[in-house]
Amino acid sequence: MADNSGATSKSTSSLAILSLMLKETLERGQAQTDAALERLIPPATQHPTSIHLAMRHSVFAGGKRIRPILCIEAGRMIAGLIPPGIEELGAALEMLHTYSLIHDDLPALDNDDLRRGRPTCHKVFGEAIAILAGDALQTQAYEVLSQLQCPADASVRIINEIARGTGTVDGMIGGQVVDLEAEGTKPSTETLKYIHRAKTAALITASIVSGGIYSGAEDTELAKLRSFGQSIGLAFQIVDDVLDVTQSSEQLGKTAGKDTVAEKATYPALFGIEESIKKADTLVESAFASLQSFGNRADTLKALARFLVERKK
Ligand code: IPE
Ligand code: IPE
Ligand code: MG
Ligand code: MG
Ligand code: MG
Repeated sequence: MADNSGATSKSTSSLAILSLMLKETLERGQAQTDAALERLIPPATQHPTSIHLAMRHSVFAGGKRIRPILCIEAGRMIAGLIPPGIEELGAALEMLHTYSLIHDDLPALDNDDLRRGRPTCHKVFGEAIAILAGDALQTQAYEVLSQLQCPADASVRIINEIARGTGTVDGMIGGQVVDLEAEGTKPSTETLKYIHRAKTAALITASIVSGGIYSGAEDTELAKLRSFGQSIGLAFQIVDDVLDVTQSSEQLGKTAGKDTVAEKATYPALFGIEESIKKADTLVESAFASLQSFGNRADTLKALARFLVERKK
């Protein structure tokens, strides 16, 4: 009896420690990323001011900074400490992600008015400047990537990894194309998986793998990081789809219920909410398995994976 209650209180306290560690990881990663973004995006006073204001409007609106944090933590797992300068790689990833959101919200794509709790970029600055702000964040990201504080060959590999992850062949843009073309259809499971892997998991995977490359990971380690990224990236988009139907716009900071109205190809539409959540949980289990050989060095990445499926926004 006494032993059992001892074990329970011990596991309760280790859970509390884990959640405190996760909170610290998230807060430190967000602060580090935000400071780098502040330095690396031209000030709002820089001529021509409208484009810099628009870029900053969308970047500094309180995103979760999940991709930079995963990148930093993958780097830390490989190197044993946070590699100096990795936050600049994280900032470049966040610029690319924010560019994808600005374009995703345009009237020609998802036509959204609300993003990160603010009116979308095109609502405030007009469509032309919003398109250019997305383009500009992409250009700025590659300028930053070309000046990373890592060996030149690692830098070239990182640029290749990220360009592919956001490109048209199994990358973010390819996924966005199929997402739009699948609206109003009842896609096969294969098509739905393709959309989610390409539009979302590819950039998340590139974030994790590039953190590994930055830290000098070997090819066998990169393969494990890639497999982890592919699983949690797919789980992340499944949860995004679920949140669209289970949460309010206020909670999400973006318009809830839009996927149903637009007849988007989503996991809840094809499998229902419960089954979708089960699939996300199963993906997290296989993500954990990919990192098994790293032992407890993988604890933070695992905690982040769990956070991604349990999040409420
Ligand atoms: C939203 O991404 C777009 C998807 C790929 C699902 P996030 O949920 O990471 O959005 P922010 O960056 O926190 O706003
Ligand atoms: C967007 O997917 C994926 C991107 C590449 C931006 P969604 O269209 O579901 O993202 P939200 O729900 O608008 O954030
Ligand atoms: Mg979309
Ligand atoms: Mg959208
Ligand atoms: Mg969505």
